[in-house]
Amino acid sequence: KIADLKGVKQGRLRIAAVTTTKFFMPRILGPFCAQFPGIDIALEVVNRDRVLERLGRNQDDLYIMGVPPETLDIECEPFMENPLVVLAPKSHPLAQRKDIPLAELGNVPFIVREHGSGTRLTVERVFEAQKVPLNIRMELGSNEAIKQAVAGGLGLAVLSQSTLSLDPQHEEVVALDVQGFPIRRYWYVVRPRGKQLSVVAQTFLDFLRAHVQLLEPRH
Ligand code: PGA
Repeated sequence: KIADLKGVKQGRLRIAAVTTTKFFMPRILGPFCAQFPGIDIALEVVNRDRVLERLGRNQDDLYIMGVPPETLDIECEPFMENPLVVLAPKSHPLAQRKDIPLAELGNVPFIVREHGSGTRLTVERVFEAQKVPLNIRMELGSNEAIKQAVAGGLGLAVLSQSTLSLDPQHEEVVALDVQGFPIRRYWYVVRPRGKQLSVVAQTFLDFLRAHVQLLEPRH
């Protein structure tokens, strides 16, 4: 019996991941858990600021985010694409337009994520870099709530493409053809530099490297 257990990976894997990852993490964890039934997973899903706090305190084995910190001493590896898109209701006049200049969106109301979100940080940087005012009508702490608000005609939003269903027919919102979009970004797996990973954490990292490119990005 002991011999049977040899090589079987057991233990707990602690991951802290930003909120937007909940749209795809289960599709990664499903096959991982099937392959390693002895590993149980504690997944903390919080916004980027909370993930950085946990990283600073070394509370988890691995961290998953779209915007790695510039100030902490970390090792970080991209493992999947994470494009950002501008979303509008399907009936919006801009939905028919091609190659919309970002400057045109300066007058349009936007619904944005809360401060501390990686999505919010990126959106603010993009508008600022182009010197286009970001006209914030509403701030919401949830990607799903933002999609509902966009569908309800409250404004446009910039969100990760990960928040969209694979089948556009199932969506009430569409991605606009705005110049410079989709913004190309990645999902990163992050850990403190030099951190000795547990066997289960190393197993998960190897699994990400080997399998996740197969979940091809959505275009
Ligand atoms: P967020 O992070 O869920 O905190 O917005 C997403 C991202 O950085 O892409």
